[in-house]
Amino acid sequence: MERKRAFITGVTGQDGSYLAELLLAKGYEVHGLVRRTSTFNRHNIEHLLHLQGLTPTDEKRFHLHYGDMTDMHSLLSILQKVVPHEIYNLAAQSHVRVSFDIPFYTAFSDAIGVLSLLEAARIVSPNAKIYQASTSELYSGDKRETPQNENTHFRPRSPYGVAKLYGAEIARIYREGYGMYVCNGILFNHESPRRGENFVTRKVVMGAIEVKQGRREFLPLGNLDARRDWGYAPEYMEAAWKMLQQKKPDDYVIATGETHSIRELAELAFHLVGITLTWKGRGRQERGVDAATGKTIVTIDPLYFRPNEVEHLCGDARKARRVLKWRPKTTFKELIRLMVDAELEHFEHHTSHSSMVLS
Ligand code: NAP
Ligand code: GDD
Repeated sequence: MERKRAFITGVTGQDGSYLAELLLAKGYEVHGLVRRTSTFNRHNIEHLLHLQGLTPTDEKRFHLHYGDMTDMHSLLSILQKVVPHEIYNLAAQSHVRVSFDIPFYTAFSDAIGVLSLLEAARIVSPNAKIYQASTSELYSGDKRETPQNENTHFRPRSPYGVAKLYGAEIARIYREGYGMYVCNGILFNHESPRRGENFVTRKVVMGAIEVKQGRREFLPLGNLDARRDWGYAPEYMEAAWKMLQQKKPDDYVIATGETHSIRELAELAFHLVGITLTWKGRGRQERGVDAATGKTIVTIDPLYFRPNEVEHLCGDARKARRVLKWRPKTTFKELIRLMVDAELEHFEHHTSHSSMVLS
């Protein structure tokens, strides 16, 4: 039987690397889109690249292609070459706060990029099944509208969210208009040791360890009261794959159904490294204090506030549970613990880093 071929955009990112791993384990031939960069940024997929070619007879099942979501010609020519059975569109400028700094670029890659990929697929690979990485940032985060499911109305609050809304809607239009197999995975926040360092879970985990080890005095954060529904990334990629194995394409919310504030996240991460965090003061003067020493170890820095905030996210993934037989396994506590453990191991092998200035 012919081996299944998948094309993954965003393969160097958190999700793309887990998805590549999953599909290779399932026997797929995997093709990933990579951007040309001056310094290599393939740390998330290096282990997969090293898995192949160990002997001259090794079959090569993981291939990388240069291109960019803002360059439709590159997408067309890759699809023409690969003719994939499945396409996973994970590439995006994925940072919400940064999307306020670079709204045009965010729109080109996260909105028009989706259109380019759909159009390229329609022209050269119309039978491919397509997964579009949609997001809980489509919702307003209004507390009165939780938990959010597939029927909750969309009202994005950032340039990122509105670009992703275009992506989600154009994906639906290609499904309904052209009969193409296109699914939106409306994924709530999902994290892992491979999470970018300027997303809050990874930042807090790294910060707590650095404070504990005396590498930094305090951790600057933004809005402590926002709430997120955090799951474990590899499990969410399993859901993405399942969406493309159904008889009919559809949209699905993927979430844990549990929500926690940034404040709770910080308390847990510090607790896991042996520090009891207590809070003093209010508003911008609020600070997190080490209960044992009285030292300030968390501060509020307006640099990390967003012009608009999605305050409250909590997903209702009952449809995915019913149709896809998918359910989350890793709890919030287990997730943060596994991130702390991975970071401690990482710190043992690498002495420098930390890039919290622009998160
Ligand atoms: P990520 O770690 O930031 O990875 C983003 C990937 O997209 C990277 O491989 C990046 O390449 C690539 N990329 C960015 N702009 C591109 C462009 N113009 N052309 C080609 N590639 C480009 O993101 P993630 O957390 O894995 O998320 C994957 C997708 O799911 C994204 O679309 C994100 O918006 C969406 N999503 C994520 C979450 C979440 O909680 N993680 C939740 C809902 C939806 P470089 O390595 O070259 O930068
Ligand atoms: N990044 C960051 N840095 N966020 C902070 C900080 C900080 O110092 N302090 C507080 N926060 C708050 C943000 O204001 C937000 O409410 C929450 O922490 C989560 O921020 P991020 O981890 O940056 O993720 P996000 O929710 O904005 O976006 C992620 O999840 C979306 C799905 O809901 C990204 O992965 C998006 O690509 C994804 O679509």
